[in-house]
Amino acid sequence: MANVTTHTFDAIIVGGGGAGLMAALYASREIDVAVISKLYPTRSHTGAAQGGVGAALGNMEEDNWEWHAYDTVKGSDYLADQDAVDVLCKEAIPTIIELEHMGLPFDRFPDGTISQRRFGGHTNKNTGKPVMRACHAADRTGHMILQTLYQQCVKNNVNFFDEFHVVDLIRVDDTVRGVVAIEIATGDFHVFHSKAVLFASGGWGRCWEVTSNAHSLTGDGAAICLRRGIPMEDMEFFQFHPTGIFKLGILITEGVRGEGGVLINGKGERFMEVYAPNIKDLASRDVVSRAIYLEVQAGRGINGKNYVHLDVTPETVNYYYEKDGEDRRISREYIEAKLPDIADFTRTYLGVDPVTEPMPVQPTAHYAMGGIPTDANGRVFMNAANDVIPGLYAAGETACVSVHGANRLGTNSLTDLVVFGRLAGVDMAKYCKTAELAPLPDNPAAQIMVEFARLRDNKGKVKAYEVRNKMQTTMTKNVSVFRTEETMREAIANLKILRQEYLDVEVQDKSKQFNTDLLEAWELGCLLELAEVTAVSAITRPESRGAHARDDYPERNDEDWLKHTFCFKVGEGAYELDYKPVVIDRYQPKPRVY
Ligand code: FUM
Repeated sequence: MANVTTHTFDAIIVGGGGAGLMAALYASREIDVAVISKLYPTRSHTGAAQGGVGAALGNMEEDNWEWHAYDTVKGSDYLADQDAVDVLCKEAIPTIIELEHMGLPFDRFPDGTISQRRFGGHTNKNTGKPVMRACHAADRTGHMILQTLYQQCVKNNVNFFDEFHVVDLIRVDDTVRGVVAIEIATGDFHVFHSKAVLFASGGWGRCWEVTSNAHSLTGDGAAICLRRGIPMEDMEFFQFHPTGIFKLGILITEGVRGEGGVLINGKGERFMEVYAPNIKDLASRDVVSRAIYLEVQAGRGINGKNYVHLDVTPETVNYYYEKDGEDRRISREYIEAKLPDIADFTRTYLGVDPVTEPMPVQPTAHYAMGGIPTDANGRVFMNAANDVIPGLYAAGETACVSVHGANRLGTNSLTDLVVFGRLAGVDMAKYCKTAELAPLPDNPAAQIMVEFARLRDNKGKVKAYEVRNKMQTTMTKNVSVFRTEETMREAIANLKILRQEYLDVEVQDKSKQFNTDLLEAWELGCLLELAEVTAVSAITRPESRGAHARDDYPERNDEDWLKHTFCFKVGEGAYELDYKPVVIDRYQPKPRVY
């Protein structure tokens, strides 16, 4: 194979975000592991997670992991697997303490305990009132996790291949043999031969127009697995975070409401009092996003437009908390100390100072609850019967364990990364210590090289950005906070046309080095496929549950639909669906009341 270099490691980790680095750190204590990232690892999207990581430390008030588990199950609209949720919430506590010991600079109280704040859907099970469970480092919690884990990985001699873009999985029958990547700087192909592969490559919020996701969140790992015969689980459940910066989608952390901020409509009303009388602005994200959408639809957006206000000004906010004499009353100083990034974002992008003015916000595509199906040790299932593919792992947003079910609670993404990243790293190391390195097939990079040559040399009439814009428009219009049979049919029809247009995409840059034009065109192919899987999975679920809210089927239907969707790719634009039961052990489904 011309210009193809082969590297060999026990295990390959695709993605240098929180889940990938946590897995790498643990695996590297036992085996030879390499992290391959299309970015420089500390630029991974984990860094954009702001408000906190959930763990029932009980530093501020009474709390315990079982309340955390109950909230997670309830927030998931009972679609989460409860055995996995127990693992998440129980393991969260020692994992946070471990991160603290690694040097993560959490905010603290004078007595040294980690500071915690309120977040949506996290409650005291006895009173139903919000509980302070989100451990945070100002509003840069994800950023701090990323930096801490990267330093630990460097210290532990993890091998890094930065700015290498993984584009294929080498699967032979039901075993994995490694991955194929492009070195972005040279355009050369590399084969990474290994006993195990772990995908921790993030989500695909870029399917939508307004998103909190970085440009790099194009679902590469999920799409690669889909193409190599792995089903995608629960893809119909994609979370819209209620408070993205109007038009731009950049996240304004739920921590703002956790610190007492409130949502206000065009009539100056605190409308969450109507939609969630008990927990108000701290209801789950699906509830708050729908409320904003309905306010806008009823003409109660700000100035009749499609946004509302998020107000954390000291004038409006009267909530405060006091511990050991530390006064947490909202003030200019408090906002600058606890919410510095969001203050900076709104000043920079909107010219709005959150200390004196409310922030214009709208729901923004934020998080994939579905993805590559795994167990709690990150082992990937190849079907709804839970048969695993030995050596294939996934963790983080790209995986579906499933602990988030139909709607993830805020802060549980970071908890998921560190808890399941660690468990996957440990299990992968154990696997690699006994597994043989199976031989590579002949020319493992040949197929993907042909596809890249086609993309680069194609003489087409369409530009990738044109197809991307159309995909984002149709997903935003048709598979959004609310959907119906009709809108999803329209999305599927449009995506089919776009799949054809994609074959006609012409890449302008024909060079090898740093050819981001070519790589973005390839990423678009991933997004198109995941958008199609999302719409196909959604149209076949005739009920409303969590983030999947159907105007034509407004009720949850536990009798028929308390089950996980598995979507398989069986040809170009052809998908088959299967289902598996939800693990319900402790909490029987009940109507959600907020
Ligand atoms: O609102 C936030 O800070 C986001 C956190 C999350 O998605 O968990």
